[in-house]
Amino acid sequence: MISNAKIEPTIKIVRTDAAPTAAFGARAAPLIRAEGIKLQFDRGAINALDGLDFHADKTEFVAVVGPSGCGKSSLLNLVGMLEAPTSGQLFMAALAYADVADQAAFRRRHFGFVFQSFHLIPTLTALENVLLPTIGARDSRRDSLERAWQLLANMGLDKRARHFPSQMSGGERQRVAIARALINEPDVIVADEPTGSLDSAAARQVLDCLERIRARTHVTIVMVTHDAEVSARSDRIVHLRDGRLDPSWESRT
Ligand SMILES: Nc1ncnc2c1ncn2[C@@H]1O[C@H](COP(=O)(O)OP(=O)(O)OP(=O)(O)O)[C@@H](O)[C@H]1O
Ligand SMILES: [Mg+2]
Repeated sequence: MISNAKIEPTIKIVRTDAAPTAAFGARAAPLIRAEGIKLQFDRGAINALDGLDFHADKTEFVAVVGPSGCGKSSLLNLVGMLEAPTSGQLFMAALAYADVADQAAFRRRHFGFVFQSFHLIPTLTALENVLLPTIGARDSRRDSLERAWQLLANMGLDKRARHFPSQMSGGERQRVAIARALINEPDVIVADEPTGSLDSAAARQVLDCLERIRARTHVTIVMVTHDAEVSARSDRIVHLRDGRLDPSWESRT
């Protein structure tokens, strides 16, 4: 087993206030790589993932699409280290997930999660929700607070910082959730149908925010979506069927 510290020289964490870059999606070595991953449930009766290879390059926005039950959320759970595969290997850069000693700390440090139903804490304000993942982090409270305000401003929500989730629209809530996903300056945003509960105008706004953030931070995005308008804005669309990649469908947008 090796410690989390070993990954640090290879994974560059870029601050959200870094200078914007010229272009998205510049080709790079895979940041995330999955090789022959299988995920079984009920002692092998269910093959959620059935020998799947997957990769996402640094700064890439990969959309994962496919019919209900084909394994999209399962793939995200593995990519985001929320679950371990039954067999096969996942890597961040050269580091195998299986070799990470403190998986929770690694996950907190390198991944930000966004879900369809926002998962905000109803009794906390927008600002407090964004700050939640910084509890116990190494940064000073002041740095975290400054970053949370900056992220809310980037999301067009600086005037909503003191509001509770129930006082905000779905699109605003999802932008709070995205700010929360970004507060620890992750390398990868793992998003499971983040626009699934939003109308198309709100969905567009959420996508605009993510694109702005990606331009500034070089964050990699792996996103499950059922929305063709959303996947059309990705760099690459990966199609899943029955727990496998459907190679006849892989497309670069
Ligand atoms: N914890 C679990 N126990 C048993 N089966 C599971 C579990 N989680 C997922 N599955 C099964 O694995 C398969 C893939 O599920 P998954 O949630 O990854 O699908 P999905 O592509 O995200 O579907 P949807 O578009 O409906 O969200 C499904 O058949 C599902 O029922
Ligand atoms: Mg799903």
